[in-house]
Amino acid sequence: YSAHFYYQVIKNNGFPTTDDDKPLYGHFRKDFIWSTATASYQVTLEEDNIWDKFAHTPLRIFNDDNGDIACDSYHKVEEDVEILKHLKVTHYRFSISWSRVLPDGTTKHINEAGLNYYHKLVDTLLAANIQPHVCITLYHWDLPQALQDIGGWENETIVVKFRDYADFIFSRLGHKVKFWITINEPYNIANVGTAPYTVGHNLIKAHAEAWHLYNDKYRAEHKGIISITINSDWSEPRNPYKQEDVDAARRVVQFYIGWFAHPIFNGDYSPVMFRSSHCRLPEFSPEEIQRIKGTYDYFGFNHYTTVLAFPVDYGNLGAGTIADRTWLDSGSGWLKVSPFGFRRILNFIKENYGNPPIIITENGISERGPVDLNDVHRSYYYEKYITQVLKAYLLDGVDVRGYTAWSLMDNLEWATGFSERFGLFYVNRSDPKLPRVAKASVSRYSTIISCNGFPD
Ligand code: NOJ
Repeated sequence: YSAHFYYQVIKNNGFPTTDDDKPLYGHFRKDFIWSTATASYQVTLEEDNIWDKFAHTPLRIFNDDNGDIACDSYHKVEEDVEILKHLKVTHYRFSISWSRVLPDGTTKHINEAGLNYYHKLVDTLLAANIQPHVCITLYHWDLPQALQDIGGWENETIVVKFRDYADFIFSRLGHKVKFWITINEPYNIANVGTAPYTVGHNLIKAHAEAWHLYNDKYRAEHKGIISITINSDWSEPRNPYKQEDVDAARRVVQFYIGWFAHPIFNGDYSPVMFRSSHCRLPEFSPEEIQRIKGTYDYFGFNHYTTVLAFPVDYGNLGAGTIADRTWLDSGSGWLKVSPFGFRRILNFIKENYGNPPIIITENGISERGPVDLNDVHRSYYYEKYITQVLKAYLLDGVDVRGYTAWSLMDNLEWATGFSERFGLFYVNRSDPKLPRVAKASVSRYSTIISCNGFPD
């Protein structure tokens, strides 16, 4: 893989540089959150959820990989916390598996052993002084199969079921956990199904109900914060001198982010959403609009890459996207190294959603092919992307409160299995003990953390 990366460096006669690419020296806020993340199905043994079923259907996942053992984080709490200590992160983001704690999705059956695993993880983190604000995602894609059997996110009863699940988790873990994310990347959950607008609608309502429940019942005592994590690429016009391309690029970002952010931060779906859904978007009642608006404590945001947009005469949005040929590749076809887009999209959030506090809940790069622990591409990526975050914070006044590197370790990258590796730590899958081995980028990221940015 490094050979391929080096080949591209030669092809570009060095790293592609632009004005945006200049370094900046300075610090983030004193209380800046430095984190790294995993998600339940990607690192722990799991059963009875939709990903478990999908992964055991032949030919669905690259190499027929599955999450039966994954990185065996279920049995490696101490080891995982050790590598987090080594990184010097202040927080760790992980997700709770709904089907592990409530196998049929309801509180009729509680798997106490599954819940105890999360207690053990939280307690071990707290003992290691990895922030009292442990970040937990209530829903990172692994829906209990029993709920899928009755329609999953297409069935409106999921809103109450999700609220009850959240209630159960807050009541059991809320005195220890101060930092919650309701739903991870609703765009991707909605977009892979057959009824995206219905699913999106129910996701927004479920998020809002969980937020209100926390606000009314738990906040005074537990004093935590809760929000949703939205993902989006940045989008530039393919030809900046063509107004149609400029308009297409703007539509893409408004669609990706705005689908979920507009109802939650501004109220109701945006005009772009109404137009591009061609009347298929369900409507919120006036009461629902009011209930959903303002259900956030921060803007949780996942970002990886930039695309170039141009108009097309098909599809909802009427926009196509490509990548610029000079941007460096990663191990994932969709991810090109394009740091400048990060500052721009953070400014877009500031301008369009009322300058909210932003916590970056994912950002990172993958590789594939032979293992090379000298992951120069990852050190380069973090250095450049975090510099753009610093520029947004120091030069543009974007209220960035935290940064999370995806991922702590190589894990099951959904449909591409273990072939795309996003980890700061390499997991040696040919050794049954699945040891975690630091890649070179661990020391780079941990230095940035220790310096709280880039000191002169
Ligand atoms: C988004 C998802 O939240 C995470 O599960 C995934 O592994 C990364 N992005 C990388 O694709």
